Amino acid sequence: ARKGSALVREVREKQNMHKSRQRFWELAGSKLGDILGVEKTAEQVDADKQAVGEDGEVDFKGNVKFAEHLKEKGEAVSEFAKTKSIAEQRQYLPIFSVRDELLQVVRENQVVVVVGETGSGKTTQLTQYLHEDGLSTYGMIGCTQPRRVAAMSVAKRVSEEMYCELGDKVGYAIRFEDVTGPNTIIKYMTDGVLLRETLREADLDQYSAVIMDEAHERSLNTDVLFGILKQVVARRRDFKLIVTSATLNAQKFSDFFGSVPIFHIPGRTFPVQIMYSKTPCEDYVDAAVKQAMVIHMTCGPGDILIFLTGQDEIETACYALTERMQQLEASSKNAAAPLAILPIYSQLPSDLQAKIFQKAEEGVRKCVVATNIAETSLTVDGIFYVIDSGYGKFKVYNPRMGMDSLQVFPCSQAAANQRSGRAGRTGPGTCYRLYTETAYLNELLPNPVPEIQRTNLGNVVLLLKSLNVENLLDFDFMDPPPQDNILNSMYQLWVLGALDNVGNLSACGRKMVEFPLDPPLAKMLLMGDELQCLNEVLTIVSMLSVPSVFFRPKDRAEESDAAREKFFVPESDHLTLLNVYKQWKANQYRGDWCNDHFLQVKGLRKAREVRSQLLDILKAQKIPLSSCGSDWDIIRKAICSAYFHNAARLKGVGDYVNCRTGMPCHLHASSALYGLGYTPEYIVYHELVLTTKEYMQCVTAVEPQWLAEMGPMFFSIKDSNTSRLEQRRKQNEEKTAMEQEMEELRKKQLKALSQK
Ligand code: CDP
Ligand code: MG
Repeated sequence: ARKGSALVREVREKQNMHKSRQRFWELAGSKLGDILGVEKTAEQVDADKQAVGEDGEVDFKGNVKFAEHLKEKGEAVSEFAKTKSIAEQRQYLPIFSVRDELLQVVRENQVVVVVGETGSGKTTQLTQYLHEDGLSTYGMIGCTQPRRVAAMSVAKRVSEEMYCELGDKVGYAIRFEDVTGPNTIIKYMTDGVLLRETLREADLDQYSAVIMDEAHERSLNTDVLFGILKQVVARRRDFKLIVTSATLNAQKFSDFFGSVPIFHIPGRTFPVQIMYSKTPCEDYVDAAVKQAMVIHMTCGPGDILIFLTGQDEIETACYALTERMQQLEASSKNAAAPLAILPIYSQLPSDLQAKIFQKAEEGVRKCVVATNIAETSLTVDGIFYVIDSGYGKFKVYNPRMGMDSLQVFPCSQAAANQRSGRAGRTGPGTCYRLYTETAYLNELLPNPVPEIQRTNLGNVVLLLKSLNVENLLDFDFMDPPPQDNILNSMYQLWVLGALDNVGNLSACGRKMVEFPLDPPLAKMLLMGDELQCLNEVLTIVSMLSVPSVFFRPKDRAEESDAAREKFFVPESDHLTLLNVYKQWKANQYRGDWCNDHFLQVKGLRKAREVRSQLLDILKAQKIPLSSCGSDWDIIRKAICSAYFHNAARLKGVGDYVNCRTGMPCHLHASSALYGLGYTPEYIVYHELVLTTKEYMQCVTAVEPQWLAEMGPMFFSIKDSNTSRLEQRRKQNEEKTAMEQEMEELRKKQLKALSQK
């Protein structure tokens, strides 16, 4: 197991020590504070105010605003870009030299795998080439991305290359954000968005071609799309599919589609020298900071890219680098050359992410500190030095606990090579690996484990079921997920009432699929309708779909905690969220009101946007918006219906155990239920987060009879007295019975098939 970084701890302590946040950001440089999105300047506050129109309505084109913001701030200009026209830049890309051959292969084949180094122009050019070749005359050209950031930034770039407004001929769509229009012919989107579109149109008739970009990342949705698009290809002769990939996996992709051609874009990369650590490093965050300083002080020009695992480490490294630079400035007369320190991770606000593409001023070295987001999907030009921690954060699903968690693991050899490759794009570079060569050879897996094999499949199962995939174990997966995961996810869906006893989609499940939400949240909405409190539940679900809206700066912790407590509804964090939203609304959705109450205005606005989109879906489904007025108990009942699998029972002060699994779970200090002298016997929680302990996030007190009434397969009133062992036994019986029924059905189907 990995020891936590001492540097992360140290910096955190230091930050806590700072009496005033002002001083911390002064020290860190106001830029950094701005980038990390903590300190609000007077202008930002003004801008927030202006976003609220005369009638108190927020200007709701949040999407378009992102585009405008990028236009103002995030011009992605390299040295090259500054001196060459956009058309010249396009012609300089490696892919341009093989444009005609490539198009010829695409004309002659329905499916083509395209392999090329990062930065060769696959993502930005392929769509345009297909358009130029006339494919857009009979449908859109779609391009999927595993990451939202990539979809947005690439669409922006391509709209510039085609001299049009973002959202016009070129647009993008991510969950809850659609920036496309009637004119759109090139559409960048997350793989999840295209997957949902197959629900409406199994044959993707709107599209003449789809490019599955970054397929080698093997994201869950991409893996499912593989199976689905293979069917589309078989049914639609006029449909073109291009799969792009880094070198690894290309053969596998080609085989999957029946030995289709693999087209190689000749590389134009420079050699990268690899430097390994001589000894295993204790604290890679600390080591990375030191290495970056050594490079900055002793090596020639060229930007630095550091790979760490997550926000906390990245902020720490940025802080430490800033501090060291200031120390240098203070101590030596001939000050070091300036260093622009730029963090990037997926939770960083998108307008700020754009900063990493900006060319630094003359004589300033850039140091980008990134998660594996910068491995393949974002290209930063001018990197000569890469520092690789050798770790990354990956989502893993534990079917026994029924819990997804993000955990730090060593990255794969393939990923390490991708990382080092980033140093050789503009000239010969160097990669410093903060691990030994022996570790590289013996401890890193050759390839990353596909997400489908390590994640909760609830959504996928629901989706495939509604696409009439009868038997998931027979679906054409490139690498099938473990059977345990499939069965467990089916079990969870069955408990939610989305599947019937033989594993078919129920009426409730059919409705749930319509919402781009995790199954429990979709269920909560439907129960809100049934119990006549949809208006309220809709708000709660929207609030749960955005990052936490509570703002808690480290050095004003007490003040912000006090502000948060004012919103508390003692028996429920979910109702607390509802309360926050209602009060924000009562205050005309004002930005300054948020600032005064330690709330993140961006998060709340996003929640409002999500809410209006979910409302549209409800309208389309002809589900009327009911309200329970001030009777909030009924809302708790709706909440309860979504979380049987996350029901827990009081064991000691603040300590609960999961009713089903017996897993201990703890109330977090930030919960409304914490320390109010009110500890309910039964609760449900939104999710379990593993930090120092298993903490429950977003908790609501429930009545035991609700559990019994709505989740009879789990709980009976008597249960509260019977032993856990007994409960376990009963659940297992239920589960086995369901599995047997399913197995029998499967046998029947097989028999029917063989008789045909
Ligand atoms: O997909 P691939 O890695 O092959 O390359 P790409 O993303 O199409 O990038 C080609 C070039 O476009 C890069 O070298 C960048 O200079 C430029 N680009 C940009 O300026 N801004 C973006 N958001 C994306 C790409
Ligand atoms: Mg790309």
